[in-house]
Amino acid sequence: MACSEGGLALVALLVSWAALGPCGLGGAEPRVLADTEGPQCPAICICSYEDDTGELNVFCSSRNLTHLPIGIPDGTRALWLDGNNLSSIPPAAFQNLSNLDFLNLQGNRLSGLEPQALLGLQNLYHLHLERNQLRSLAAGSFAHTRSLASLSLGNNLLGRLEEGLFQGLPHLWDLNLGWNSLVVLPDKVFQGLGSLRELVLAGNKLAYLQPALFCGLGELRELDLSRNALRSIKASVFVQLPRLQKLHLDRNLITALAPGAFLGMRALRWLDLSHNRVASLPEDAFPGLLGLHVLRLAHNAIGSLRPRSFKDLHFLEELQLGHNRIRQLAEKTFEGLGQLEVLTLNDNQIQEVKAGAFLGLFNVAVVNLSGNCLQTLSGQVFRGLATLHSLHLEGSCLGRLGPQTFAGLSGLRRLFLKHSGISSLEEQSLGGLHSLQELDLTSNQLSHLPRGLFQGLSQLEYLLLSGNQLSALPADLLRPLQRAFWLDLSHNRLEVLPEGLFSTLGQLRYLSLRNNSLQTFLPQPPGLERLWLEGNPWDCRCPLRALRDFALQNPSVVPRSVQAVCEGDDCQPGYTYNNITCASPANVSGLDLRDVGEDHFAHC
Ligand SMILES: *[C@@H]1O[C@H](CO)[C@@H](O)[C@H](O)[C@H]1NC(C)=O
Ligand SMILES: *[C@@H]1O[C@H](CO)[C@@H](O)[C@H](O)[C@H]1NC(C)=O
Ligand SMILES: *[C@@H]1O[C@H](CO)[C@@H](O)[C@H](O)[C@H]1NC(C)=O
Ligand SMILES: *[C@@H]1O[C@H](CO)[C@@H](O)[C@H](O)[C@H]1NC(C)=O
Ligand SMILES: *[C@@H]1O[C@H](CO)[C@@H](O)[C@H](O)[C@H]1NC(C)=O
Ligand SMILES: *[C@@H]1O[C@H](CO)[C@@H](O)[C@H](O)[C@H]1NC(C)=O
Ligand SMILES: *[C@@H]1O[C@H](CO)[C@@H](O)[C@H](O)[C@H]1NC(C)=O
Repeated sequence: MACSEGGLALVALLVSWAALGPCGLGGAEPRVLADTEGPQCPAICICSYEDDTGELNVFCSSRNLTHLPIGIPDGTRALWLDGNNLSSIPPAAFQNLSNLDFLNLQGNRLSGLEPQALLGLQNLYHLHLERNQLRSLAAGSFAHTRSLASLSLGNNLLGRLEEGLFQGLPHLWDLNLGWNSLVVLPDKVFQGLGSLRELVLAGNKLAYLQPALFCGLGELRELDLSRNALRSIKASVFVQLPRLQKLHLDRNLITALAPGAFLGMRALRWLDLSHNRVASLPEDAFPGLLGLHVLRLAHNAIGSLRPRSFKDLHFLEELQLGHNRIRQLAEKTFEGLGQLEVLTLNDNQIQEVKAGAFLGLFNVAVVNLSGNCLQTLSGQVFRGLATLHSLHLEGSCLGRLGPQTFAGLSGLRRLFLKHSGISSLEEQSLGGLHSLQELDLTSNQLSHLPRGLFQGLSQLEYLLLSGNQLSALPADLLRPLQRAFWLDLSHNRLEVLPEGLFSTLGQLRYLSLRNNSLQTFLPQPPGLERLWLEGNPWDCRCPLRALRDFALQNPSVVPRSVQAVCEGDDCQPGYTYNNITCASPANVSGLDLRDVGEDHFAHC
């Protein structure tokens, strides 16, 4: 059979599917799947049958098409025309595709839709029109596509919507209007969308939501209003959304929440109000939100929290309050949050945490107080938080940690105290932390550690003491750490290590002594997998002979350099050196210990 380009559409319609074989078009083989006998495929497209359902998919994506291809088979179920250069759809262009249920027109240059453009698509379920240049759509644009379940109009230039645009779409489930230029919405624009589950309005310029806007959206589950210009949330806007589960209001300009703004939203599980300008929470900000699991209020301007601000949120699991201006945590601030697991308060201006501030947090696992200049912590603050796993207190200006600061944290696994200005610790400063596995004291001002500091920390595996001013350590300091696995003592001022300091650490695999003032070191304990020694003024006389032999015999434990691990894109290939450079005696000064000959030690 001969096919000519012009006659193809007709031919495809007239000839029975089975009778057609692959057929040349303008010299090129059409790419009908080899094992299918079916209608012809436009030369520029790829046609294939779905294995399980036998449905015909026609792929004409990214072909620089300026016009619709001719001869799309009538039986097509899914048609991909995305990433082309289509600037308009002629009237009735898809008229014969009455089985079409998926049409992808995203990423073209469509600036409008003819009233009859979608004529005949009575079975269309999914319509993608995102990433075009649509500026407006006439009412009735979707009058021919009454079966639509999902409609995506995101990333266009829509500045307004016609009243009635979405009328007659009773099955619509998912509507995306995100990343347009919408400033106001007509009062009744969503009326009739009784099946709608998900509505995306993110990334527009909406400044105001009228009270009746969401009337009738009785099935809505998720509403995304993030990245708009909303200034306040009035009561009664969301009351009509009894089934809403997820509400995104982040990245707006909201300064005020009306009391009762979220009244009656019993199904709401997830509320994001982060990145706004909320300065205070009304007395009864969240009444009746019995289903709420996640509340995000980070990056606002909240200056204080009333006691029991969150008292009705019995099922809340995550509360984010980081990056606000909270100055103080009063007693019972979080009462009622018996199911809370994650509480973030990082980067506020909290100076004082009153005893009892965390009362009632019976299930909390993570508390982040990093980035607050706390100055002091009283001994009672964490009492009762036996379920806490991780406590973040980085950058918190603590100065000194008194005894029993962490009393009550019997389940704590990870304690982060990096950069916290800690200059002194007492024997009992870490008392009660029986489950601690990771302790990060990096970059503080510790110049000495009391002997009994780690008493009772038998579960500790990771101990980070890098970047302090330690010049000596008590001989039995590390003895309680039976499980220590990783020990970082780098960037201190250690001059000598007491004999036997590491001898009981049978589990130790990683030890860093970089950048100290050590002159000698006896390789120990056995079992080490990585030993960092660089940056010390090694005295390469007889006592260092054992280290030389060890380093030469175990190059994988004491490598001369390790290639830097690349993370991210802009990674500079590089090495981390582990030089054991001799500072003395003069005749080997500057040499690496491993390069000093056997003769040098002959007299030892
Ligand atoms: C589409 O046009 C661009 C630029 O003119 C070209 O680089 C690309 O190869 C074309 N793609 C096809 C499938 O013809
Ligand atoms: C798309 O069409 C416009 C004119 O309508 C033309 O200027 C442009 O080069 C075309 N782009 C491609 C990739 O074909
Ligand atoms: C639809 O089919 C009719 C007759 O079957 C034909 O005349 C018309 O050109 C077809 N339309 C398109 C857009 O292919
Ligand atoms: C805690 O806050 C710090 C400081 O902002 C941040 O770097 C860290 O990722 C936070 N950690 C958690 C678990 O929230
Ligand atoms: C060693 O640590 C000190 C203080 O932490 C720092 O000033 C110095 O630059 C470090 N030296 C090397 C070689 O890293
Ligand atoms: C370590 O030794 C290598 C050569 O093995 C040298 O290139 C590098 O500069 C040395 N690094 C330091 C910090 O001394
Ligand atoms: C350095 O000097 C010492 C004694 O002064 C000597 O025992 C040793 O062999 C010398 N080492 C080298 C490498 O010359």
